[in-house]
Amino acid sequence: MYLSPAESKDSGAEMKPSEESNYFPISPETLNPHALTDFKVYLRHGNRYVLYTKEREEFSEHLKKKLHENGIETVYIPFDQQASYESYVFENFEWILNDSQIALDVRSKVFLDTTSKQVCSIFQSKLPALDENTLQGIHHIVSSSLSFLSTPGALDNIGQFISHDYETFTHSVHVFTYTMSLMQSLAKDWEEGALINVGVGALLHDIGKIHTPNSILNKPGKLDREEWEAVKLHPVHGMRMCTNVALSQTSLNCILFHHEKFDGSGYPSGMKEEEIPLPVRIITCCDVYDAITSKRAYAPAQTPFSALKIMNNEMQGAFDLNVFKEFIEILGKAGEKSGA
Ligand SMILES: [Fe+2]
Ligand SMILES: [Fe+2]
Repeated sequence: MYLSPAESKDSGAEMKPSEESNYFPISPETLNPHALTDFKVYLRHGNRYVLYTKEREEFSEHLKKKLHENGIETVYIPFDQQASYESYVFENFEWILNDSQIALDVRSKVFLDTTSKQVCSIFQSKLPALDENTLQGIHHIVSSSLSFLSTPGALDNIGQFISHDYETFTHSVHVFTYTMSLMQSLAKDWEEGALINVGVGALLHDIGKIHTPNSILNKPGKLDREEWEAVKLHPVHGMRMCTNVALSQTSLNCILFHHEKFDGSGYPSGMKEEEIPLPVRIITCCDVYDAITSKRAYAPAQTPFSALKIMNNEMQGAFDLNVFKEFIEILGKAGEKSGA
């Protein structure tokens, strides 16, 4: 059942002809009753779009309740106001993620969409170096997500929306998600500020790939020696991109050392075992897992089970076994909750 136009606005309902391509759907749950919106919200009434709230209007508890009572789970925003909606979500990110009244599914989607957009814009900008403004955005995303990512069931719930088509920015978000779950079980005594530094490092770990040609990153076949050497430069490129911003040593370590291996056979430094900081050992494990479970130009996506099997049988020595075992445990728990 839909609210009638008369019910949807107290006066002067604005009707728009049905043009689906002009609107995008959102969950009204994401609208904070205590924050003003900077966009119009429409209801879909049959084949028409009906104005529900205008810009600078509060999406009050009363309006939300009315929608709920009428079983309306989707409202619509004009595409030409998408940027306003996105900045609203960005500003209200922490509230949305931590309001337990909002369905976990809705929060997981907001988490993935908002975080992906933030990282995607960095990769699309092709900036030669990271600037303070961009870093602050990443910091905001990470600090707002910390408590959500430790919510029971969050990892499992996010997992159902994870795309297995490999893109560097979505890969960065997945690695960040897995890393924070592992940090919360392997580094329980770490303070929030230190966890945020790890999260920032995880989100930015592959930022140096901005300088790796797409023809190499997306090459369907095996890389030749020269191409492989170009790929191996991305941790150093990444670190160089961050020299002008106030990035913590922890975050820099994640960027520079995430291809080190526990047995010392990694790059760029060949450091090994506990010489590699714990967050980096965690990122390394999550990084490889996400790459194997994603469809890449040169390999199909593997199931979680076969990815872990490949990591265990074919990459012996690459990972800290304590980290790897805990990772299996966490993924197993998430699978149990979903009944997988
Ligand atoms: Fe990498
Ligand atoms: Fe990576």
